[in-house]
Amino acid sequence: MVPDWLPGSVIYQIYPQSFNDSNGDGIGDLPGIEEKLDYVASLGVDAIWLNPCFESPFFDAGYDVADYYKIAPRYGTNADMARLVESARARGIRVILDLVPGHTSIEHPWFKESAKGPDNEYGDCYIWKNRSYDPAEGPTEANYLKSFSPEEPALNYGYAKPSEPWQQGIDAPWPRRNREELRRIMAFWLDMGVSGFRVDMAFSLIKNDPGYGETNKLWTDIRSWLEKEYPDAVLLAEWSWPERAAEAGFHLDFMIHFHKESYKSLFFNGSGTLPYDGPCYFDDRGEGTPWIFIREYMEQWRAARGNGYISLPTANHDFQRLVCGRRDADRARPAWVFLMTQPGIPTIYYRDEIGMRFLEDAPPKEGSTFTGITAPNGGAVEGERAGTRTPMQWTPGKNAGFSSAPEKDLYLPVDKAPARPDVESQERDPDSLLNFVRLLLRIRKENPALGADSEIEFLNPEGVDYPLAYLRSDGDSRFLVAVNPAGGKRDMALDIPVSGFRSVLARGADPRISAESAVLSMEPFSYLVAEIS
Ligand code: NOJ
Repeated sequence: MVPDWLPGSVIYQIYPQSFNDSNGDGIGDLPGIEEKLDYVASLGVDAIWLNPCFESPFFDAGYDVADYYKIAPRYGTNADMARLVESARARGIRVILDLVPGHTSIEHPWFKESAKGPDNEYGDCYIWKNRSYDPAEGPTEANYLKSFSPEEPALNYGYAKPSEPWQQGIDAPWPRRNREELRRIMAFWLDMGVSGFRVDMAFSLIKNDPGYGETNKLWTDIRSWLEKEYPDAVLLAEWSWPERAAEAGFHLDFMIHFHKESYKSLFFNGSGTLPYDGPCYFDDRGEGTPWIFIREYMEQWRAARGNGYISLPTANHDFQRLVCGRRDADRARPAWVFLMTQPGIPTIYYRDEIGMRFLEDAPPKEGSTFTGITAPNGGAVEGERAGTRTPMQWTPGKNAGFSSAPEKDLYLPVDKAPARPDVESQERDPDSLLNFVRLLLRIRKENPALGADSEIEFLNPEGVDYPLAYLRSDGDSRFLVAVNPAGGKRDMALDIPVSGFRSVLARGADPRISAESAVLSMEPFSYLVAEIS
């Protein structure tokens, strides 16, 4: 069962510390988000996903939770969250929170208690490899299992196949207790009216679980409970393996930069946070290939279909943006057309809609530097995330309209480039990226064939890389989409008969259509969305 609001939705991700500061302390907050809800609604999105906004020492920007039941004071209060949920709902927008089930902060009282020794009330709440440390000094990473950074000890959900004396099975008392607590946390926020959770590192709770059998059971149990108690709520996975996430009962999975190659092969061009070996597809040089994506995506789409959706986000708080490495944001339009005409649920990372830059010189902030991190598929991850987390640019004025605080107090610096984009200026320009994004969302909503559940078929002849062409269809309703993200002109002959042709959106595309064939002649950075019969 899928909540009926989900399939037609587009999600907007808000990084709360960088969206809008209502009280002038230099950090975004919940009332600030509430003030901007009309703007959010004007985009045509249906849900917002907020990165963690719970009590935290912010060693990892809030992913290190110190109290799951309390909004961090810098963002406001639980009452502010309740008001935000209500105000959003009044505009037809749902609020999705970020659930970090796999670890807490080292400053969580559970961890502090647990560290006091095995006989303590919270004894095995975490995974203790050994207890040989000086109680006065406290434990270090050598003593407990970390989940992500050393400040993020793994909660004990047990091992599917324990192999050391310190590893507990999934039915040991603490793994059971942690599973129960997880439901209590979810119920607490769902009772406030939130509409679900993005689940951090959803694949990682049960350790040594080859094939994810026990992990699946944990989440499918939660999904069954949700369907009974909170049938309107959704579970969105950070798994980046849609087939697996769907098996585990998630309504949606973000297909991003780990476990799978697709996303990197499309968008990572060497600028920003994370590297990629090879030219990517959406790059001005036009030296990439879409085939890594086409093969992997189609396999995942077929496997997950009917059980779970895929979301290919415009970016997120962990990696670079669509505009990275481009001379201007306008060149990212083919990528926008592509992303907003995919099956599943599109997700827009705040400020991508105005084409904000990745700030290469943004200073590290609150654990933004990936260092000593092991990727889910092994290997070390290094990179700087601060550049993708800088404040939203609302106006051309002071602090880009983000905050009235002195510049030195801002969470992260705002872009100083004279031509930096901002919402106010783009509102006035009918051709702005902002208005283009709104148009794309309108087109998606008006045409179910472009939506979540409709078919997709890639049309590129084997070995032909540019442009990228595909059909989206729903029964008799068919749409041809083609994008050329390269800086050179590219042609393609399509092996489909076309009798009727109605262009819905086009730039630099010259389709020559006949009853026998269709030839697309695509200028640099061009796109086409057309209804065909
Ligand atoms: C994934 C989150 O997206 C990232 O920001 C965070 O640092 C890690 N999980 C650890 O929670």
